[in-house]
Amino acid sequence: MDCDVTDCERCPALVDSRSRIVNGVGPADADLLFVGEGPGEHEDEHGEPFVGRSGDVLDEGLRSAGLARADVRLTNCVRCRPPDNRDPRASELGNCRGHLRTELAAVDPVLVVALGKVPAEHLLGREVPVTSAAGAVHEADLDTARRVLVCVHPAATLYDRSQAETFESALVTAADYAGDGGQSTFGDF
Ligand code: URA
Repeated sequence: MDCDVTDCERCPALVDSRSRIVNGVGPADADLLFVGEGPGEHEDEHGEPFVGRSGDVLDEGLRSAGLARADVRLTNCVRCRPPDNRDPRASELGNCRGHLRTELAAVDPVLVVALGKVPAEHLLGREVPVTSAAGAVHEADLDTARRVLVCVHPAATLYDRSQAETFESALVTAADYAGDGGQSTFGDF
């Protein structure tokens, strides 16, 4: 896709730790754009977001909500694997922001789903208590006004089973927006 990044060396630590740049995957005109934090080991190895254990949880959650992985777009706040799976630094998030904005503009999704604290705070530009905020749709100024659904990160459900229900119900909310353009829930905006 046009918004794929083929060459970027803005973050020296990530250039050292990555094997490759991991671009978003999925339909170029997807209704739903899921945004994770950054590639982990498996994503770095395969060159695709959410193909490790978090990806298995996400795939299963999508299926339960009546969605298919192939119908949604998956991307990350940063496209290169941070060393030791640490959180991306503010400077790295900033360096990669233009790539995410280009992808957002190209896909023009009905709803952006922030998977976890890092993407929720990056997209909304403020602190977000993800567990209590999960399932809520917020408006964010991302070049244009966009709807952002806060969701717990799929990996959180692996460590804390009580988060599984929160995760799944956020995906059901996302599914409501897919297909009908979110018109039925526009009032939440
Ligand atoms: N976690 C993320 O946030 N993104 C991925 O691509 C994989 C795991």
